[in-house]
Amino acid sequence: TDRYAVFGHPVAHSKSPFIHRAFAEQMGQDLDYEAIDPGAEGFAEAARRFFAEGGRGANVTLPFKEEALALADEALPRACEAGAANTLIAREGRLLADNTDGVGLVRDLTRRHGVPLAGAEVLLVGAGGAARGVLGPILRERPRRLVLANRTPARAETLARAFAALAAETGVKLDVQTWDALRPPFTLLINATSASLAGELPPLPPELFAARPFVYDMMYGAAPTPFLREAARHGAHTADGLGMLVEQAAESFFLWRGVRPDAQAVYARLRAALA
Ligand code: ATR
Repeated sequence: TDRYAVFGHPVAHSKSPFIHRAFAEQMGQDLDYEAIDPGAEGFAEAARRFFAEGGRGANVTLPFKEEALALADEALPRACEAGAANTLIAREGRLLADNTDGVGLVRDLTRRHGVPLAGAEVLLVGAGGAARGVLGPILRERPRRLVLANRTPARAETLARAFAALAAETGVKLDVQTWDALRPPFTLLINATSASLAGELPPLPPELFAARPFVYDMMYGAAPTPFLREAARHGAHTADGLGMLVEQAAESFFLWRGVRPDAQAVYARLRAALA
């Protein structure tokens, strides 16, 4: 039986074991998938041991995604660009790092929610690891414009510089704005901040909602996040990050096993369990 795991701290509430066991069952794949909390300082040692003992692959969640990139023998392009890895793959004695978060978001938006990114006017709120992880895959879908806004504008500037070459290559107008300089129209607003965790929301000008953007929060929970509640109050269509979670997992599963599971069936089960 091939062994897989998710590493995180904390990890007890991770839905990854449920998702990957469901995928395995669906696809008739014989595998084990466990959750491992190595403590705040123990990731590298625990991951090395897991792979030395024959582990075939792992997911990595907060706060170890940067460490996971550093640990790998080889970083694949999506992980390099994201500066972080959420997926580790043991292949021919080497450990590869990849990042499936961005494609997970793109698939959730374009396929599940029917929100096109090509030609879109996108506002990405936040400039931490979550924002950086999705920026490359969003740019490759060729939105018309991508604006970054963050509480600490300098972090958004740094991110914009890091992706300037890709934006030029894909023909996307990428820039940074402060909250009060944000002007409609945007067709898509994405919250990549952790503000929802504190029950807070970024101070977006309400007129952004007048143009009826689709509003997405990469966080999810039993109840809508403050960001989505605010958007819904203004009549916007909204979605939380549960679909992204399932889609990034499906992409990891594909990298490990070479087959694509039916993400929608597992998404429906998770959604029902969350309510
Ligand atoms: P992550 O890896 O989840 O992105 P992070 O790197 O700590 O975590 O980044 C958190 C993001 O949420 C940042 O964009 C942060 O803004 P700052 O760069 O100004 O810190 C944003 N954030 C967190 N709490 C927020 C709040 N209450 N209001 C607005 N933005 C917030």
